[in-house]
Amino acid sequence: MRAVEALQEAQKIAFAPYIFQATISLRKLGILDFIFNSKNGSTLHEIAEGTSVSEYGVGVLLEIAESSDIVLINENDKYELSKIGYFLAFDKTVNVNINFNNDICYQGLYHLNDSIVNGKAEGLKELGDWPTIYEGLSKLTPQQNKSWFEFDHYYSDYVFNDALEVVFKKNPKRIFDVGANTGKFAISSCKFNDDVNVTMVDLPGQLNVALGNAKKEGFDNRIKGHEIDWLSENPQLPKDGADIIWMSQFLDCFSKDEIVKILSVCANSMDENTELFIMETFTDRQKFDNAKFILEATSLYFTTIANGNSKMYKATDFIDLIDQAGLKLEEDINQIGENHTILICKKK
Ligand SMILES: C[S@@+](CC[C@H](N)C(=O)[O-])C[C@H]1O[C@@H](n2cnc3c(N)ncnc32)[C@H](O)[C@@H]1O
Repeated sequence: MRAVEALQEAQKIAFAPYIFQATISLRKLGILDFIFNSKNGSTLHEIAEGTSVSEYGVGVLLEIAESSDIVLINENDKYELSKIGYFLAFDKTVNVNINFNNDICYQGLYHLNDSIVNGKAEGLKELGDWPTIYEGLSKLTPQQNKSWFEFDHYYSDYVFNDALEVVFKKNPKRIFDVGANTGKFAISSCKFNDDVNVTMVDLPGQLNVALGNAKKEGFDNRIKGHEIDWLSENPQLPKDGADIIWMSQFLDCFSKDEIVKILSVCANSMDENTELFIMETFTDRQKFDNAKFILEATSLYFTTIANGNSKMYKATDFIDLIDQAGLKLEEDINQIGENHTILICKKK
């Protein structure tokens, strides 16, 4: 890279919050949609009229958007969307990430440095007064709730079908869904197989939401709940043992020491036949740099907003933690959807 290009990139980072918020505004005010829907591009005046935004407002937004390659000016002096602008307006993954970053992370991220120095999610106070985000999930505003759950579900829902195929090859009769969240996996399991029973394991607030969802789907006879706080002194799984303990996108909510503690509690509750399934998106298992980048950025959400001490991990980290917890890795399935891995463990 030439120095002049490097300086331009450095300036883009220096002004990154402006570009991000201008993008939010261009989306919210319908300016990107309006430009996309116009046949051969639109003038500033046409966009201002069509969106009922002042020419001043549209003008400042589009000037920075043009310098940031979000829009371009064509040979007729009209604005068009660039490819970047198209993805910012219409790509599903970008959409989910933008809403999550704006509604959940943006204000809290200001406290990133304090979070690193203090080892505490100092940005969480911008959302509410909770020890971690997880106690607050059932208390978010409707817009925050939508953005958090769309982000969370987006990165696991689409692989649940592939994952269910792997899980039910083992013909389980009872599953513990640890970190059941809204109950989506438990409900999908009951739809996939008519005989299975699932116990959802989560914090009380979230468990209530999940049990309500299971009931709405008519599965209250096969789906039960077990309240737990894994960060408490002596967390225990239910006594009626499971054939499979399932954890999807769950252990990344904890520090390495906490993961060893959780896995050790699981190991103690397992017999020689019980299998523990860990499904994660590992940073060292991604085919595309783009996916690795999203995961590494998501780690900073954990640092600043979620809990201050967890992250998106490498598979090599987990393989080591599994061993420390008294478990052995039996299967390592690396092709669940495009981004997920399932590690299947047994007691040593
Ligand atoms: C990222 S969500 C996992 C979502 C779901 N399994 C999936 O694949 O989409 C993490 C879940 O772990 C739960 N959790 C976080 N901290 C916890 C704790 N200390 N004790 C019990 N559950 C906890 C949260 O309430 C949440 O439902």
